[in-house]
Amino acid sequence: AATTRYEAETSPAICTGTIDSDWAGFSGSGFCNGTNATGAYAQVTVNAAAAGTATLNIRFANGTTTARPASLIVNGTTVQTPSFEGTGTWSTWTTKSLTVNLNAGSNTIRLSPTTAGGLPNLDHVDA
Ligand code: GCU
Repeated sequence: AATTRYEAETSPAICTGTIDSDWAGFSGSGFCNGTNATGAYAQVTVNAAAAGTATLNIRFANGTTTARPASLIVNGTTVQTPSFEGTGTWSTWTTKSLTVNLNAGSNTIRLSPTTAGGLPNLDHVDA
């Protein structure tokens, strides 16, 4: 099926942090630089034509050498805890593909860090 791009900086997305554009290579007008704390989050709302499995392609950058794990929370339930590895520099963007179950219609997809290092910078989710 065709994919749709959900930008981290575009409503109804939520970024508890700042929308930044100081590191090159992002799509759209910026990216979510989430607050470096547990409980912060980046959220997009993904529309699914039908219920079932879907692939989320999450584009991120982590300019540190420490992986940043996060809860992947779909419609309020933590379903995975992916870890977002270092990408070398903050302007080196990588895509992580995760498979989830979605409902037909709107689905909230939230990444919330499990360590005080916070999230990687989050550019968009393709789904
Ligand atoms: C740096 C970088 C930010 C990044 C932050 C972090 O400040 O400029 O883009 O979000 O590190 O560690 O999360």
